[in-house]
Amino acid sequence: MSAQSSNAKLNAWVAQWAKILQPREIQWCDGSQTEYDALCLALVKSGTFTKLDEVKRPNSYWAHSDPDDVARVEDRTFICSTKQIDAGPTNNWRAPAEMRIELTALYTGAMRGRTMYVVPFSMGPLGSPIAHIGVQLTDSAYVAVSMRIMTRIGQGALDALGDGTWVPCLHSVGAPLADGEKDSVWPCNPDNKYIVHFPETREIWSYGSGYGGNALLGKKCFALRIASVMARDDGWLAEHMLILKLTNPQGTHKYIAAAFPSSCGKTNLAMLIPTIAGWKAETIGDDICWMKFGDDGQLYAINPEAGFFGVAPGTSYDTNANAMNTLLENCIFTNTAFTSDGDVWWEGMTETKPARATDWHNQPWNPNSDTPAAHPNARFTAPAGQCPSIAPEWQDPRGVPISAILFGGRRRTTVPLVTQAFDWDHGVFLGSIMASETTAAAGGEVGKLRFDPMAMLPFCGYNMADYFAHWLEIGSKTTANKLPQIFFVNWFRRDTDGRFLWPGYGENSRVLKWIFERVDGRATARKTEIGYLPDSGSLDVTGLKVTSDDLGVLLNVDAAGWRDAIPQIREHYAKFGDRLPAKLNTALDSLEASLA
Ligand code: OXD
Ligand code: MN
Repeated sequence: MSAQSSNAKLNAWVAQWAKILQPREIQWCDGSQTEYDALCLALVKSGTFTKLDEVKRPNSYWAHSDPDDVARVEDRTFICSTKQIDAGPTNNWRAPAEMRIELTALYTGAMRGRTMYVVPFSMGPLGSPIAHIGVQLTDSAYVAVSMRIMTRIGQGALDALGDGTWVPCLHSVGAPLADGEKDSVWPCNPDNKYIVHFPETREIWSYGSGYGGNALLGKKCFALRIASVMARDDGWLAEHMLILKLTNPQGTHKYIAAAFPSSCGKTNLAMLIPTIAGWKAETIGDDICWMKFGDDGQLYAINPEAGFFGVAPGTSYDTNANAMNTLLENCIFTNTAFTSDGDVWWEGMTETKPARATDWHNQPWNPNSDTPAAHPNARFTAPAGQCPSIAPEWQDPRGVPISAILFGGRRRTTVPLVTQAFDWDHGVFLGSIMASETTAAAGGEVGKLRFDPMAMLPFCGYNMADYFAHWLEIGSKTTANKLPQIFFVNWFRRDTDGRFLWPGYGENSRVLKWIFERVDGRATARKTEIGYLPDSGSLDVTGLKVTSDDLGVLLNVDAAGWRDAIPQIREHYAKFGDRLPAKLNTALDSLEASLA
């Protein structure tokens, strides 16, 4: 049964684009299991999907993409505001009128020979006051089925929309088919990709890629780039953050949101199994957090997504057992390896490598092969409800009140294990100077240090200077005791030989415990130049195998390292010119003065 829309504006928009895109047929997705199964079967027939062994991993599929379509393409991502200054120095900008002409030419006839799927979706629990509706047009069945896992699609979303407004999301793989032409297993247009956002009209136009955040438009394009603009205009926050619930041995719980750049362990932290006795962690979300003020003046958060699009390599029963148990059925695996016994595998999944497999290039692979079996940005797409650690309230339409916000990056040096900001404004300062080593989640060099404020560098839909101002403004909208406390964390500190000083994973619960108890005003801390650091003895290290020398480094202020960083931070700030809020320069000046 196809979904029925009584929204006249929506119907007109679909008809208008159908005329331009010229698909062979149009299918309104109702979100049912029957529809999902039929689309997956068609994907198996066309060669995009290979069904995994039904006993080993029921109702699951393996896909391998075009080698030129494996990650988000930041250099092809555009923010098309009327004025360039409104996109800011960290975004690629093009004039909207010019971009519309260029892309309309490409979209003309782009869906010839293909089905256009109309995918209505809700970002967030249906009907939640924190949620918003989008409608994606796509000519990729792979995208349509992935959207069913990642968002709430179909009639329910249309009913929640009623005759209201939605974020229009246009997507084509840019590979029209001539009559009788055989389709490729991963249709895309590798040399001509565009991931375009029109923030003023809140529209998304994506062309040429079928992969991840380029194509599943509810995720980065809507829930971060467009939503960040909506949030600025309407007084809320749309952030690149996981959300977790932490419960102490006395049964008291708190909700924590944490921003880390892509591929820095958000999914692992969201699903962590504490190593400290009596503490429990549960998952609300692993990538995106929308926070709006409740009537009580606190920030309430939802996970706008319904699934996990997680990085597979490195995920194992040792590193993330909850993720592994989420992946047992009903999943899509993209660019992992496919084993000879009908399952999937990736580097780091098991110590023993499969004797024979097909790699992500669809070529025979064995443990002696020179290349990895899975692409470093291979992904699983999995329903969040299957996660053993999912919190019962993960779909509560009211959201959950946030007590602490963490900012963290991948930093070999300088940044301590955990620091608490002096107050909200100082926390915004720390978030604005966040830097991290780049990963395979986006095209480009891996391991290079770049400033990634609040982990939003690739995802902020407007001038980041105004984004910092918005964060400061949020802090003035309620009383200080209602605001989440802000912390800066770094699990990735190394010694000069490259050895990690902190074990990470489940042991991060020790840091979360300290944060929980700081929020309660119980854990002790010493005031330093960069914020509050755990007092000796206040971080629970019982039973932890970390030497006291290493702990000393992890909890020390590396004054020389921070002094060296100041000119780089000034250069980072200088990019924003006089749009940068004065408070941030003042915070930097006082940091410099205190380190002198
Ligand atoms: C993601 C990313 O896919 O941040 O979550 O790249
Ligand atoms: Mn992400």
